Amino acid sequence: MYSLKNIRLTNKLFLFVFTLALSLTLFIHCQPEVFAQGERIYQSKCASCHMEEGQGLGELIPPVAASDYYLQHYDELVCNIINGMNGKIIVNGIEYEGEMLPIRSLTAAEMTNLINYMNHKWYPELQAVMMKDIQLEMDECLMKK
Ligand code: HEC
Repeated sequence: MYSLKNIRLTNKLFLFVFTLALSLTLFIHCQPEVFAQGERIYQSKCASCHMEEGQGLGELIPPVAASDYYLQHYDELVCNIINGMNGKIIVNGIEYEGEMLPIRSLTAAEMTNLINYMNHKWYPELQAVMMKDIQLEMDECLMKK
């Protein structure tokens, strides 16, 4: 026989398992959506120069995929996107001296999704970035210029 207490406990357990399952489902479904937004941003704001697969364009535009510079200067990534880049840099042994104009139109959420997309696709060893950290970095980058 079930006592009232037991029924309440069963209900609570059910609710707990249900909530867990729901969160998991949402998480699994939202993850690809986050990468899809990142991909759309990459394709619309970056691919015109860095090309669809991030391979760059010969000696004119450095690659963002498999780029040693990306990893070595990862701390500066957000500022480099926001403030642009110019001057000599060496990427995978090739010297580039081009100009990347500042890209200021991204919200913190978009910047987060863009970086997570690039990391997920080309640098799976890197940890996912969080919007609150990216927001802080973006604010700091804007003060630097
Ligand atoms: C107008 C062309 C152009 C666009 C658009 C552009 N870049 Fe660049 N990017 C460059 C050039 C040129 C350099 C090299 C700058 C230099 O020589 O100092 C560069 C350098 C970089 C670097 C550092 C070097 C490397 O390859 O690792 C990263 C990272 C990067 N860009 C990411 C991005 C991302 C992300 C976007 C989109 C939000 C973007 N770029 C949009 C032209 C562009």
